[in-house]
Amino acid sequence: MQNIEKFIKGLPKAELHLHLEGSLEPEMMFELAARNNIKIPFKTPDEVRAAYKFSNLQEFLDIYYQGASVLVTEQDFYDLTFAYLTRMKADNCKHIEVFFDPQTHTDRGIGFDVVVGGISRALADGKAKYGITSRLIMCFLRHLPEDAAFKTLEQAKPYLDKIIGVGLDSGEVGHPPSKFARVFAAARELGLKIVAHAGEEGPPEYIYEALDLLHVDRIDHGNRCMEDNALVARIASAGLTLTVCPLSNLALCVVKDLKKHPLREMMAAGLKVTINSDDPAYFGGYLNQNYIETAQALDLSRDEIITCAKNSFLGSFLPDDEIAKHLSDIEVYCFS
Ligand code: HPA
Ligand code: ZN
Repeated sequence: MQNIEKFIKGLPKAELHLHLEGSLEPEMMFELAARNNIKIPFKTPDEVRAAYKFSNLQEFLDIYYQGASVLVTEQDFYDLTFAYLTRMKADNCKHIEVFFDPQTHTDRGIGFDVVVGGISRALADGKAKYGITSRLIMCFLRHLPEDAAFKTLEQAKPYLDKIIGVGLDSGEVGHPPSKFARVFAAARELGLKIVAHAGEEGPPEYIYEALDLLHVDRIDHGNRCMEDNALVARIASAGLTLTVCPLSNLALCVVKDLKKHPLREMMAAGLKVTINSDDPAYFGGYLNQNYIETAQALDLSRDEIITCAKNSFLGSFLPDDEIAKHLSDIEVYCFS
């Protein structure tokens, strides 16, 4: 039997929960700061890394939004996205569904076209050069008001051929999904897919709201559903996918120890769980590292790892024939 690390590295997989701004490595942060003449309060990439110690989501977000300020030109967004694709090629990742936060940039006077232009040009090159397929999801920042989300949806309208869906991120507690029910209804009317961060720090009630008021196609994180058996049963029977991010949960103290991560119990409860990196430049590991450390900490079986990889395609927004091809590639890799 192959060792588990080698097995994970070769396993075909998709990533469904990744914030592009969270893939900004400190080295690139310095490069872009110099290119754009932007001051950052650090002298070296190591100094930046040393500052990445968080005790909750908000402490991370404060640093993360500051880091994103070096992204200015279309080329910056291209470079950021292409660097992530290159990293995913190394992880044998075949498909990505990535988030971006338009408001983080448009609020600094960067054009929506600049952001989407650079990202989508890189995604097209990722397909051409690496064969990695992709979908782009635009997130509303939940700490901002509903009307700002409506304005962002309006700005997105000329680019809907490049955007598959909308999501909800930023500080969860105090900003429940209900705050955005109307703007998500408008997004659904436009034919967009719906996802939302829920139950990362927020209570199970926020997951109910994501289901009942936003009508999500997928739940991002969702860990805290485990506090409510009826909610678990409902998510399981609806067949909804959860995009779980173990190293993020550890870095933001959602779990105290990876060995105590609920992922295995979530799977055992019948939930469709996937493994993802969230903000890998900040949380110390890309996709394979999340698989490897989680498998080791929870002593996951080969079958459980395979199930997570299969779920990553089953829970994607790819057409059925492409999903079927990826599942058959997994079978070939695992059983021949
Ligand atoms: N939660 C909420 N907002 C975020 C996150 C997260 O884990 N990462 C980037 N924005
Ligand atoms: Zn996230």
